[in-house]
Amino acid sequence: MRNPSIGQSRRLFAAFLLASLCPFVASLATIPDSSAFTATVFAQDQTIWDGVYTDEQAGRGQRTYEQECAACHLDDLMGDGIAPSLVGSSFFFRWSDLSISDMYTAIRTTMPQGAPASLSPSGYADISAYLLQKNNVPAGDTELPSDTDDLEAIMITEAQ
Ligand code: HEC
Repeated sequence: MRNPSIGQSRRLFAAFLLASLCPFVASLATIPDSSAFTATVFAQDQTIWDGVYTDEQAGRGQRTYEQECAACHLDDLMGDGIAPSLVGSSFFFRWSDLSISDMYTAIRTTMPQGAPASLSPSGYADISAYLLQKNNVPAGDTELPSDTDDLEAIMITEAQ
């Protein structure tokens, strides 16, 4: 007669073997992922300091800002005490190490207060360009896009 506990311990052993192999199998499975991850990191090497908007775009952004935002954030973007300042240390404290996409999306989904998402995607991109300009980030030859996948690749950093 077979001792049932032997069969049981074999099953246990097999289960243990499988479990201990799992991390190894998992690490094999993540190799293609890790190269995709590296590609993402490279794509995010671009920062706001690489000339990611144009002066003309920031000019359009300023006009839209004055119509849609200045009532609360004021003409100098310093805020009115309730609406926060959008320039200087408050800008970099809020957005550093995030992407332009994070900032663009936060603005588009919450501002103007009371009428979020009421501007066109390019209107929000223009305002984002204006915010960069007012934070002394230099302009370049290409406009800031309004596609969030493209904006995701541009990181906000405090220093160059
Ligand atoms: C009616 C007043 C009002 C208007 C108009 C307005 N804001 Fe605001 N804004 C606020 C207030 C109040 C806050 C702080 C509370 C909050 O984040 O909702 C704020 C917060 C913000 C923030 C910080 C959000 C965050 O996640 O930290 C940004 C950026 C901003 N506004 C940009 C804009 C822009 C750009 C416009 C124009 C398209 C605009 N606001 C229009 C009142 C306003």
